[in-house]
Order: sequence, then structure tokens, then C-alpha cells
Amino acid sequence: MWPGVLHAATGVRRAHVVGIDVAAKQIENARRHEEVRHLGIEYRAMDAARISRYWNPGRFDLVTACMALHDMPDPLAALKASARVLRKQGRMLFTIPHPMTNTPYREWERDERGRKVALKIDRYFDSGPQTTRWRMARLRLPWETPSWYRPLSEWSEIIRGAGFVIRRLDEPRPTKGQVERRPELEDCFRVPCFLLFNLAKA
Ligand SMILES: C[S@@+](CC[C@H](N)C(=O)[O-])C[C@H]1O[C@@H](n2cnc3c(N)ncnc32)[C@H](O)[C@@H]1O
Repeated sequence: MWPGVLHAATGVRRAHVVGIDVAAKQIENARRHEEVRHLGIEYRAMDAARISRYWNPGRFDLVTACMALHDMPDPLAALKASARVLRKQGRMLFTIPHPMTNTPYREWERDERGRKVALKIDRYFDSGPQTTRWRMARLRLPWETPSWYRPLSEWSEIIRGAGFVIRRLDEPRPTKGQVERRPELEDCFRVPCFLLFNLAKA
């Protein structure tokens, strides 16, 4: 599922789910999955800041954004639009890279055998654009995407400005068993990689 997912309960154990992404390619891909899995999800290519132009106020029970708001120059606009389409008791959930560990400067200090000793971070308050360089083995070409780094206090202000209050924060962590099966998850066992915001309308 791509960044914006809007859920509206339509009855017992049934929901109308809409997935959106500004990238038409992502939506094409999602629709291909829908043809195989038939989950009944409707997909639309659109900017998250425009959802309140398409759906009426209070239309949805839940809006989720998985690792997407930090890729937007104006997450406040997307959160304001989400607040508008949510009903009064609706919930907004979103994840971002953890601002404490995804700082503009970050580097693992290593011992003489190359083992990770501690994560060094700096420039925590330097909010602004960043470039993420994807270098996974499965990529045929190097790939870069823009994103925006913001310290925690800035996210808190954006959330307040959009008309939400924070109900809960979570820092997802893999289990020891998961790290044994997938050693590349070890960083996220030692330090928080992701931050999950659980919001209610103010
Ligand atoms: C890091 S990817 C995350 C994709 C997916 N949610 C996941 O967790 O694997 C960020 C996504 O946000 C989308 N995106 C960026 N700005 C957007 C905007 N203004 N409105 C909707 N989608 C946006 C990008 O096209 C991209 O698909």
C-alpha cells in the first residue's frame, strides 16, 4: 500500500479503502496487485494535500500514511486535508524515519574488527531537504529520492497546526528472532529507526 490510505467503515467487518499516491507508476503497480488479490481497494493518483477536494468532510474513519509525509515539502497541507476528511472520532496514523537517528549527519562508529560500536548523530536541529540514495543489490540503477528532515518539535508543531493531538507514539522494533533471521534489521533493534504517530482530532 502506498502513502495515503483512507478507510471508511461501511458495516460490520467491511471497509471501503482508498489508496492514493502522487506517482502514477505506484498507482499502476497497486492496481496490478488489486487485479490479482481482489481486495476491493480503490486507487487514485493524486497529491495527498488534495484529498479534501475529492471526498466530503467526515467521510473516513481512519487515514494512514506509511513513510510518506517526510517525502513531502508541505506535510502540513496533507495533514490538514486528512483532518478534514476524517470524522470527529477518526484517527490518523503515520510513520516517518525516526528524527533522532535519521539526522543529517549519522555514522556508525566501528571497532578495529569493523563491528558497530555506537551510532554517532549530529545536526539534529538542521531541518531541510535531504537526498536518500538507494543502493540495494536488487536495483539495476542507483536511485535517489528527495525528502525533508525535521526535528521532533517541528513535527509536533505541524500536527498541532493541522488540528490533531498526539494520542500515542510508538517506536517499532524487530524482535531478537527477526534479527536472527534477517541480520540487516540489527540497526533497528539497537536504535529506533521509525516513529509511528497515532493522532486524534483536537
Ligand atoms: C518512501 S515511499 C513509501 C512508499 C510506501 N508507503 C512504503 O511504505 O513502502 C514515499 C511515497 O510517497 C509518495 N508521495 C510523495 N509526495 C506525495 C504527495 N504529495 N502526495 C501523495 N504521495 C506522495 C511518493 O510517490 C512515494 O510513493
